[in-house]
Amino acid sequence: MKTILITGGAGFIGSHVVRLFVNKYPDYSIINLDNLTYAGNLANLADVEKMSNYEFIKADIVEGVTMMEIFRAYKVDGVIHLAAESHVDRSISSPMEFIHANIVGTVNLLNAARIAWKDNLENENRFYHISTDEVYGSLGDTGFFTESTAYDPRSPYSASKASSDHLVRAYYHTYKLSVVLSNCSNNYGSFQFPEKLIPLAINNIRNNKQIPVYGKGENVRDWLYVEDHAIAIDLIYHWGLNGETYNIGGQNEWKNIDLIRLLCKIMDKKLDREPGTSEKLITFVKDRAGHDLRYAIDSSKIQEELGWKPSLQFEEGMEKTIDWYLANEKWMKNVTSGDYQKYYEEQYLKR
Ligand code: NAD
Ligand code: TYD
Repeated sequence: MKTILITGGAGFIGSHVVRLFVNKYPDYSIINLDNLTYAGNLANLADVEKMSNYEFIKADIVEGVTMMEIFRAYKVDGVIHLAAESHVDRSISSPMEFIHANIVGTVNLLNAARIAWKDNLENENRFYHISTDEVYGSLGDTGFFTESTAYDPRSPYSASKASSDHLVRAYYHTYKLSVVLSNCSNNYGSFQFPEKLIPLAINNIRNNKQIPVYGKGENVRDWLYVEDHAIAIDLIYHWGLNGETYNIGGQNEWKNIDLIRLLCKIMDKKLDREPGTSEKLITFVKDRAGHDLRYAIDSSKIQEELGWKPSLQFEEGMEKTIDWYLANEKWMKNVTSGDYQKYYEEQYLKR
């Protein structure tokens, strides 16, 4: 039985990865390690929390000794590392939290893995680091990020992720730690914390609140359905080559303002409102400091080498996503009221 430590499993993408692995690999023991920051919500995993191959550990990756103890106690065979501070806007107001969690936290996990796996560095163990396309910087109107694009991070978030990527590669070269990395574009789908653009807009439209669009809404992002990212992570964890990096993207670029207009159109239909009602909520607000203009990913490597491609067209993914948020009003209310933070105590500590 393999033991896989998934960090950040209570977050948005992590919860989809945990769900996929727990259901698909009954022979693996899946440990979700998360310290439940504002972004961690164990209710995201209510459907798998009683499965016999799933366990949750509340721990902070910034605590290095604890990480070593966990590796020893659980005989961890592999790591899928998603735990991070992930919101650019928060990194602008509180950069140090990003340095601690994203850089120091990653090094602590690398050290724990290096020590635990010292007799078997190149074979069965694997450290999989999940990163972002934002490490490559900002594009003009044309071009795509490839795996060999030089790093040029421009926000405290992307700089902290870039640092962690460099450290993972340094441990591969220096200590022969078995590693693999991926850099993905913007994800969307169920269970995303509603301070990120898409769930924020859905929730605001539903509640007739303004939709804040930064600057003129001209910035371009490539959007990938989160379950497609989880499938790519499964493929890379099992079949990605040692030391390699894979770019993951949706081949789906949207200007923010066009994306929001599409969302408004779908929402009008779903909520039975007059066409054009939701668009009136669009409000242009002060731009984000250092706002990267455009991200776009060339994902031909993972497509050619591992046979992955995005499964959903964007309109279909957006419909599914909107339907999920509309059907899960209780989840949204718990998050926006802060009640979700009681879930751990009520479901785990009082059992
Ligand atoms: P998220 O903010 O929704 O979740 C992060 C999770 O990590 C939370 O559950 C949080 O509690 C946990 N965490 C944070 N600091 C921790 C610490 N010190 N110790 C233990 N746990 C901690 O993030 P997400 O959007 O799911 O992103 C997951 C990963 O994927 C991140 O590494 C992010 O950089 C990367 N990524 C995200 C996107 C995206 O569009 N969301 C795109 C590409 C890559
Ligand atoms: P976000 O979801 O924060 O992801 P990232 O900055 O990591 O790409 O934002 C996506 C885009 O939407 C980004 O260009 C910033 C913009 N944005 C808004 O216009 N308004 C908002 O309220 C938010 C949260 C983001």
